[in-house]
Amino acid sequence: MLVLGFQGSPRKKGNTAFLLTNFMQAIEKSGAQTRIIEVTQKNIIPCKEYVVCERKGYCPIDDDVKTEIYPLIRQAEVVVLATPIFFFNMSAQLKALVDRCQLFWARKYKLKLADPAKKTKRGFLLSVGASKGKSLFEGLQLTAKYFFDAIDARYEGSLTYREIEGPKDMAKHPQVSADIEKAAADLIGPLLNRKKILFACRENACRSQMAGAFAQYLAGDKFEVINGGSEPADRVNPEMVKAMHEKGIDMAYRVPQSIESAISMTTPDFIVTMGCGEECPFVPGARMLDWDLPDPAGKPPDFMRRVRDQIENNVKNLIKELA
Ligand SMILES: Cc1cc2nc3c(=O)[nH]c(=O)nc-3n(C[C@H](O)[C@H](O)[C@H](O)COP(=O)(O)O)c2cc1C
Repeated sequence: MLVLGFQGSPRKKGNTAFLLTNFMQAIEKSGAQTRIIEVTQKNIIPCKEYVVCERKGYCPIDDDVKTEIYPLIRQAEVVVLATPIFFFNMSAQLKALVDRCQLFWARKYKLKLADPAKKTKRGFLLSVGASKGKSLFEGLQLTAKYFFDAIDARYEGSLTYREIEGPKDMAKHPQVSADIEKAAADLIGPLLNRKKILFACRENACRSQMAGAFAQYLAGDKFEVINGGSEPADRVNPEMVKAMHEKGIDMAYRVPQSIESAISMTTPDFIVTMGCGEECPFVPGARMLDWDLPDPAGKPPDFMRRVRDQIENNVKNLIKELA
């Protein structure tokens, strides 16, 4: 399970960085994988309102958002926004990233597609500001709320601190460590202790991607889903993406990964292979299942649809059996 944090302050060792680093360290204690993106270090081009995302579902701008951040947002089950207050909202750098997530808004509301992880995806906000006004965080809270909605994450709340100005002020706060421990545990708690299923095939581009997405979509609250391939492809199969879109499930920006990397951070309880003779490493205690599915790659769309439907049925039966 990936917990992704966006550090939105230009100060590398300031208050926001302190909050986010400590928050992520508290989360790591639960065994979750974390990653912090220093937003000001990335090449993020602000939205140019080409509106291609609303018409076609993709963004033509080539930068780190497209190559790195969209896939990470898709992969993460928890997203944490961290920012100082700049004129009653987030920093301009972080706002540029949020605006580029109009892509996810368009895919959700115009193309009517759902993130496979929408059942469990969670969002959290961390912020600091210098003044003590009652409404200091109101603008930011609204922006954050609609950002999390666009990426199909449920907004779980925030930790916000007033009268924090000098770069070391946050670290001196008497309550912050206890606040962080509690908020991190509350945020991650419901996602811990789910049984873990690895869906594996050779390229992790088609069958195992569909199986993983159906499992997340239908029962992500009960199972943590992991995907991997013995020889991962560079990208997911575009025909598979189209077939899943017919089911309303958004497979864009998913990236194949190796089985080794899939199980490097977590140990599966069940391993399901897709009948392509892939070699899976022996995982002590894991139950192995093989679904004898034909390979739809390069076959006509109807063939892909039949395999998709068969996988959906298999996943439904598996969920019933394991539950
Ligand atoms: C451009 C800019 C705008 C700011 N606007 C506000 C503001 O509207 N309200 C406020 O309370 N603090 C404001 N601040 C102060 C910062 O929020 C505060 O110093 C914060 O602790 C900085 O966090 P950091 O160390 O993570 O960068 C502003 C600071 C800057 C540089």
